Amino acid sequence: MTNKTDRIIIFDTTLRDGEQCPGATLNIDEKLVIAKQLARLGVDIIEAGFAFASPGDFEAVSKIAKIVGTENGPVICSLARAIKADIEAAAEALKPAVNARIHTFISTSDIHLEYQLRKSRAEVLAIAEEMVAYAKSFMTDVEFSPMDAARSDPEFLYQVLERTIAAGATTVNIPDTVGYTTPSEFGAIIKGIIENVPNINQAIISVHGHNDLGLAVANFLEAVKNGARQLECTINGIGERAGNASLEELVMALHVRRQYFNPYLGRPEESQESLTNIDTRQIYKTSRLVSNLTGMLVQPNKAIVGANAFAHESGIHQDGVLKNKLTYEIMDAQLIGLTDNQIVLGKHSGRNAFRTRLKELGFELSDTELNKAFVRFKEVADKKKDISDWDLEAIVNDEIQQAPDLFRVELVQVSCGSNARPTATVTLRTPEGEELTDAAIGTGPVDAVYKAINRVVNVPNELIEFSVQSVTAGIDAIGEVTIRLRYESKVFSGHAANTDIIVASAQAYVNALNRLYSALQTQEKPEEVSAQKV
Ligand code: KIV
Ligand code: ZN
Repeated sequence: MTNKTDRIIIFDTTLRDGEQCPGATLNIDEKLVIAKQLARLGVDIIEAGFAFASPGDFEAVSKIAKIVGTENGPVICSLARAIKADIEAAAEALKPAVNARIHTFISTSDIHLEYQLRKSRAEVLAIAEEMVAYAKSFMTDVEFSPMDAARSDPEFLYQVLERTIAAGATTVNIPDTVGYTTPSEFGAIIKGIIENVPNINQAIISVHGHNDLGLAVANFLEAVKNGARQLECTINGIGERAGNASLEELVMALHVRRQYFNPYLGRPEESQESLTNIDTRQIYKTSRLVSNLTGMLVQPNKAIVGANAFAHESGIHQDGVLKNKLTYEIMDAQLIGLTDNQIVLGKHSGRNAFRTRLKELGFELSDTELNKAFVRFKEVADKKKDISDWDLEAIVNDEIQQAPDLFRVELVQVSCGSNARPTATVTLRTPEGEELTDAAIGTGPVDAVYKAINRVVNVPNELIEFSVQSVTAGIDAIGEVTIRLRYESKVFSGHAANTDIIVASAQAYVNALNRLYSALQTQEKPEEVSAQKV
């Protein structure tokens, strides 16, 4: 491999670094659904997890390797500390993938060496070299990251990179682990590496960055101008703290401004060819899927995928757009797959029409999933005359959500109004199959429902986020409820969609409680998990 590639490699770490943000924890089936969608989106590499972190992580990497890591599919990658046991677990989990990569890392900044690793530079250099060689004994595709590279001494960084490339690293990744650098500084780091690491032409330079100062995307674009050719990013920019560089922002910046970036990649300025392999029309759908399954809402003003990203409120802007879209729009909403919300199906539509439209929208459901989704579709169609693509997407995302099916909502009934005390009755089926009913009074109908549910489930928790969004306009719209709750130091999310927002609220809450309940049952202590994560 050489850095002279004339396109940008997209390395998606939604399922590894993205999943590390509080409450975003996904189960194995949800990770698989996202991985399949990432493959449809066209990412080059999926970092599927950190195989050594837990048996669940191992299984997720292995399953994704088997099902998504096909001949024409993306490279599947597992993270591994520069420790033999981590590398062995990664290699084992990745075995089913046709194209696999081990991504191993160790910190190189003095502050990490002194306080976290308690090791000298010489020791770190030797470990990095030895562990890259060890990873190389399992597979040819090996990535090495000097963690906290952006705050590392450049001379030491050059030395580590030279030695790890010589040991077999085919990609060297430069992380701004704490989101501290500015664009010109980050660009200069990449330039320094190209000028000072003698064997740098034998590896791809990658960048990884967090968004603590809101600069991750800008830093990456500057890195591209200076020779970086792989970008590590996440859908919706989710990730540790303020998140990672956002995939959709990077891809669309490189697409919309390709004439600006072309010369940096050795292309003629006027070339219209895409700079990445991403199918941009899959961006919106992928964003919605990740948001629904992780419970991480997308802020309305988020670039590219926020609800307002293509809305024009000001009269002057509206006037301009009506006369010529280009007056105030730099890209067409259709480019990211935000279609015109077609009304496609209704109450009389049959299973075939339903299946066909879902296929056209890129959903591949198993027969069981299709049957479940079709039942939901019929229920919705009974209440709502026209079913749009966005409704279909909400129904399917809701059905494929894999919150453990422990408690099940059987009945929700509320009584409320201006002269009534909001009262709710709920019946839940317990994991043992028993039906339990309870009732409660609350400050409003949702509060009453949650209090009644708490009386049945009886796991103390604190509700930290509750949000209702309508999928489409209109009084009969499907409402999507996303909630996050905290138990001790851990956050759990739940999501549900229904034309009745009280029912959706109950379902979303029970989904989150089921995740909490299942974590308690497997005794997976939050501290143990986060100690393994990086
Ligand atoms: O932020 C970071 O430094 C990381 C490394 C493991 C690449 O996530
Ligand atoms: Zn990171």
